[in-house]
Amino acid sequence: MSDRIANALLRGKVMSADEAAQLIDNGDKVGMSGFTGAAYPKALPTAIANRAKEAQAKGDSYKIDVFTGASTAPDCDGVMAEAGAINYRMPYQSDPIMRNAINAGEMKYQDIHLSHSGQYVEHGFYGKMDVAIVEVTRITEEGHLIPSSGVGNNVDYLDAAEKIIIEVNSWQSLDLEGMADIHRIGHLPNRTPIPIVHTGDRIGNTYIDIDVTKVVAVVETDAPDRNAPFKPVDEQSQKIAGYFLDFLEGEVQGGRLAYDNYVMQSGVGNVPNAVMAGLLDSKFENIEAYTEVIQDGMVDLIDAGKMTVASATSFSLSPEYAEKMNAEAKRYRKHIITRPLQVSNHPEVIRRVGLISSNGMIEADIYGNINSTHVAGQRIMNGIGGSGDFTRNARISTFISPSDAKGGAISAVVPFASHIDHTEHDAMVVITEYGVADLRGLAPRDRVAKMIAVAHPDYRPLLEEYVERANKSKFHHTPHDLATALSFHERLLETGSMKK
Ligand code: COA
Repeated sequence: MSDRIANALLRGKVMSADEAAQLIDNGDKVGMSGFTGAAYPKALPTAIANRAKEAQAKGDSYKIDVFTGASTAPDCDGVMAEAGAINYRMPYQSDPIMRNAINAGEMKYQDIHLSHSGQYVEHGFYGKMDVAIVEVTRITEEGHLIPSSGVGNNVDYLDAAEKIIIEVNSWQSLDLEGMADIHRIGHLPNRTPIPIVHTGDRIGNTYIDIDVTKVVAVVETDAPDRNAPFKPVDEQSQKIAGYFLDFLEGEVQGGRLAYDNYVMQSGVGNVPNAVMAGLLDSKFENIEAYTEVIQDGMVDLIDAGKMTVASATSFSLSPEYAEKMNAEAKRYRKHIITRPLQVSNHPEVIRRVGLISSNGMIEADIYGNINSTHVAGQRIMNGIGGSGDFTRNARISTFISPSDAKGGAISAVVPFASHIDHTEHDAMVVITEYGVADLRGLAPRDRVAKMIAVAHPDYRPLLEEYVERANKSKFHHTPHDLATALSFHERLLETGSMKK
């Protein structure tokens, strides 16, 4: 047995994943660790999927409700979705099999602000949480849990669940100990301010304390986190990154930002990662991140001495960088803090540190409303994740995206967003490979020209045509021609392209 389980009581609970899965009943609500391909349980999801398949073979049903920090990986969300083992899922996913199952109506999904998810559970909104399954790197003699490559909602699920199953993953470095900063934000109505003033402040413990009597199983694993690698930085994302840096330079010239101590938040995705590559060669120094996930680009910035501290809730690293992190966790833990999601994404701290957010998007409309989640208003892509937590509370919120998708068949600038995650009141700046639309301080009608200027040239005449029609409307604050406001999306559904 692994010497990673130092607590005598919990050593007595070691069993196989298949045995542990027998302790999870049909219909159970199961809170799992896992955040963007890191720190998710590696063995139980497959054991749960097998139970579901066995039950189906006998004509029985076996489905559970799954709660996590965010997305996981093919060997977690993927295997369970493929086996039809999930009835309900929250708060975020990005798995292709699961996405198809949700869009086909085979499972239910609630896509919510990540900062709200732990609180919903704590307040009993979902009823009783039956089981928490949490991956750790080590269990201490006292029975404290040392988080692995992420924290997410682990504290909330461990506190709320009736039963706890712990996966001890010996692939995760023991040197991760000391990276986590576990602080409970407290219960209403007696919450006090979160005492983080600077991004690097540590305010809690390096471990999660649990009620060890709730632990029903401990499962040993030795398996890597499985994140997909980022797409290589191409010409388009390089251009977007260039415009983002120009925008930051403009803020410096305007006296609103200094080259020293720029605080960033960066969303998941290929384009945000490219922006970080751009920062490597910029004039910015002592960059800090108060963000949700640590991506490859941040590791490079730390290595280059450009980033001093990155506070997040989890890693979201390519396989190559995950190996590197594991090998050098002792060095990186001086620069990286992993916090519970309720702290990493808390509006209070986000507003206080004055960060500049940058997230990807599906589409924006001519007035600056942003759709981050639904293709043509109906088909979920991933989810809102923490983009709302950061956008709403950032000092400056930016959205960075290619101007088109699917080989030009889809425009990222449309007359009316077919689903709105971030309203025109929250989104401040939109950046594509055609430039920067700085919408701050502008009335809706004055935003239109800025948005069309960053649209793909192929779509600009169609957008102009729409604006001409909309301007004939009786009302001139936010003019729309409601009959054709979604015509781009209708064409996409009918012909496979938004082009005429
Ligand atoms: N219509 C259809 N598909 C679209 C699209 C659109 N308007 N815009 C992007 N896509 C597709 C791309 O074609 C690509 O598909 P592929 O993987 O099959 O090639 C995929 O979405 C990813 O797009 P990409 O251009 O590579 O950008 P990205 O990796 O930055 O992802 C989002 C863009 C919107 C999907 C992603 O940012 C997201 O899920 N955001 C919501 C959550 C979030 O912001 N989290 C951060 C919080 S901290």
